[in-house]
Amino acid sequence: MEFRREAGSREPVYRQLARYYERRIAAGELLPGEPLPAERELAKRLGMNRSTVAAAYADLRSAGLVSSVRGSGTRVSETLWGDAPKRNMNWHAYVEGGAFVPTRELVRQTREMAEQPGVVNLARGELSPELMPKGVLRQLSGGLGLELPFGYADARGDKAVRERLSVHLHDRHGIAAGPDELLLTGGAQQALHLIASCLLRPGDAIGMEGPSYTYSRSLFMSAGLRLFQIAMDEQGLIPEAVADLYARHRIRMIFINPTYQNPTGTTLSAARRLELLAICQERRIPIVEDDPYSLLPALGSPLPPASLKALDPSGDAVLYVGTLSKIAAPGLRTGWIAAPAGVIRRLAEAKEEMDYGFSAVLQELTLAILDSKLWESELERIRAGLTGRRDRMLEALKLHLADAAEWKAPDGGYYLWLRLKDRIGEPDLLREAAARGVALVPGSVYGARPGCLRLAFSRESEERVGEGIARLAAVLAAARCR
Ligand SMILES: Cc1ncc(COP(=O)(O)O)c(C=O)c1O
Repeated sequence: MEFRREAGSREPVYRQLARYYERRIAAGELLPGEPLPAERELAKRLGMNRSTVAAAYADLRSAGLVSSVRGSGTRVSETLWGDAPKRNMNWHAYVEGGAFVPTRELVRQTREMAEQPGVVNLARGELSPELMPKGVLRQLSGGLGLELPFGYADARGDKAVRERLSVHLHDRHGIAAGPDELLLTGGAQQALHLIASCLLRPGDAIGMEGPSYTYSRSLFMSAGLRLFQIAMDEQGLIPEAVADLYARHRIRMIFINPTYQNPTGTTLSAARRLELLAICQERRIPIVEDDPYSLLPALGSPLPPASLKALDPSGDAVLYVGTLSKIAAPGLRTGWIAAPAGVIRRLAEAKEEMDYGFSAVLQELTLAILDSKLWESELERIRAGLTGRRDRMLEALKLHLADAAEWKAPDGGYYLWLRLKDRIGEPDLLREAAARGVALVPGSVYGARPGCLRLAFSRESEERVGEGIARLAAVLAAARCR
């Protein structure tokens, strides 16, 4: 959590800041050898004088908790307790040097901001507690027979569950994928990880929408891939841009979220889907279709086009990724991949290496959810709830931000993409947003140019969504004056 001044405290701010770092060092959140932010940068971020930060660092130095070397800044001491020197493990070197790229600072900062009490959370891509189908999940989990094999089993998931999933994909998405063409995963996130690390090699070039949710995830960078953005407009990605990327960089795969895209809310038109399939087929570029939101069209809006997987004439060009996270609950950590059987076998081997396959208890629950009429009606309730929240956001935007921003109403999903008319720096914007109690995600998190924001209408009640937009208007007014 970022430092906050204690309201009403008589303690000087530099002492509060020193205590904040003391606590973090003691808790092991900052490791021996780890750098503290540069004085100037921290002062700017926290909106305080550099001399205050310098005084806090001097305090920490005199306690032996940090050391400063001219030219290389201030770091947590490696011999932590000055008078009883002890060689600590250099965990910092491991933490920084491992193959997984750390979460980006901006992502961490927005996440922390969203968790502060009283903040209107327009940042989190998650259902609000009232919309989560907890009652039905409780009922379904209470009735589980726990009859699936409880030993080490097929890493793809139990056959009965994959058979049921195959019916779901057919009935709900028009996708033909038999049980051998399905793999259960720990959410869509693990599916993307498996594909990136198992089917591609470090140094491979891939294309993804610009902006894209996956940009905010370090997963492709951790896999050592080279990322290229596919240009987009209001109808989603531009298919010729894929041909162009192939010509220039020989991209080996594209990762896209064509329906109610995270973060822009756009949906790829039917004509473009066909065009994209033809371009990829001709160049033999596999498509990863990440599809968490397509069952969530807003009430009264046109239904989305069929999925790329369903439209693919060859039947083998698309790896389809689905999840229960957005249509039931992210805590279930249940996702899947539909792909040619040979690809599934390879991915299942990798999953076996990683975790021996998907939990039997969750598999039973997944089966119960997909079988349940109750869940079907919950899905309708979720759609209605999301539609109400979206409409409230649109109303509030019209009321408060018509002169300051532009947007297009999404036809479904969780997100609205806001383009600001004035140039406002993201640090100023985030600082004002924190001060006014509204959390949102700046566009650069998704690889967009500054000046765009992702607003999630899924997480708060209708009333709070309206309140969040009113607060955002105040944020923009204040940031413009800085
Ligand atoms: C486009 C997209 N893909 C994948 C995920 C990850 O979903 P899961 O919770 O199933 O891992 C998300 C979550 O926000 C998402 O928006």
